Amino acid sequence: MFNRPHTTVVLAMSADGKIADVMRSPARFGSQTDKLHLESQIACTDAVLFGAGTLRAYNTTLTISHPKLLQQRKQRGQTPQPIHIVVSKSAQINPESRFFFQPVPRWLLTSSVGADVWKQYQVTDDSSKTTFDKILVLETQEGKIDLVQALTHLTTFGIAHLAVLGGGVLVAGMMELDLIDELWLTICPLILGGVTAPTPVEGQGFSSQLAPRLELLAINQVGQEVFLNYRVRKRQGSRE
Ligand SMILES: NC(=O)c1ccc[n+]([C@@H]2O[C@H](COP(=O)([O-])OP(=O)(O)OC[C@H]3O[C@@H](n4cnc5c(N)ncnc54)[C@H](OP(=O)(O)O)[C@@H]3O)[C@@H](O)[C@H]2O)c1
Repeated sequence: MFNRPHTTVVLAMSADGKIADVMRSPARFGSQTDKLHLESQIACTDAVLFGAGTLRAYNTTLTISHPKLLQQRKQRGQTPQPIHIVVSKSAQINPESRFFFQPVPRWLLTSSVGADVWKQYQVTDDSSKTTFDKILVLETQEGKIDLVQALTHLTTFGIAHLAVLGGGVLVAGMMELDLIDELWLTICPLILGGVTAPTPVEGQGFSSQLAPRLELLAINQVGQEVFLNYRVRKRQGSRE
């Protein structure tokens, strides 16, 4: 059987289904409750995965700071912060971004071309320059990142639970390969609109006949926001 971590997508979206505005600004429209929800989801994981577009938009990643969540991780024998894994074929990521100064383990999942880009930063005598702790190259014959092999490989590092933090490009790539188990979607009380504003799942899309089907596991209203938890129904011959 295909062995991979359990994957949960965690995203906040507007009531009209956009995860950012048309300028692709960082999505800071969620409440403090939503931020704590995201932090709690991250705290349950061994690693989080996000696309380079998300890193370029935010320049940072969300670290766990809530004392109770940090304490629970300690009791479970986990490191204070999960591993933060950036997915980028090009690896065109600003090494000066704040992300590289945050107290998290940083990995890069990339192509061989992308790994070459980062060689110049990895070999340095300047200890003030922080880079990636690990660079994983798992690619198909066409030079694309092999997400199936990559997820299998992550289990060899003891990564059993993985949160996928967006954006829509990465989620689409994983959804197409049936690599998503669960979703947590927060519906926030605003309308962003815009044809080109990003949505939770980009890519080519699915016909309604072939669309992945979901099972609603939980629905919670807190204040003006609604938290939806879905399980993705497995397709025949899927990679569980
Ligand atoms: N509301 C929320 O909760 C939330 C959460 C996260 C992000 N966002 C928003 O989403 C937007 C950013 O998302 P995005 O559309 O740019 O998507 P993204 O998935 O974050 O980034 C896309 C980039 O990631 C890399 N990538 C993703 N999947 C890949 C794959 N299968 N193989 C190789 N490379 C892959 C590529 O990087 P390279 O081009 O470097 O090869 C690609 O161009 C921002 O506006 C951000 O604010 C919102």
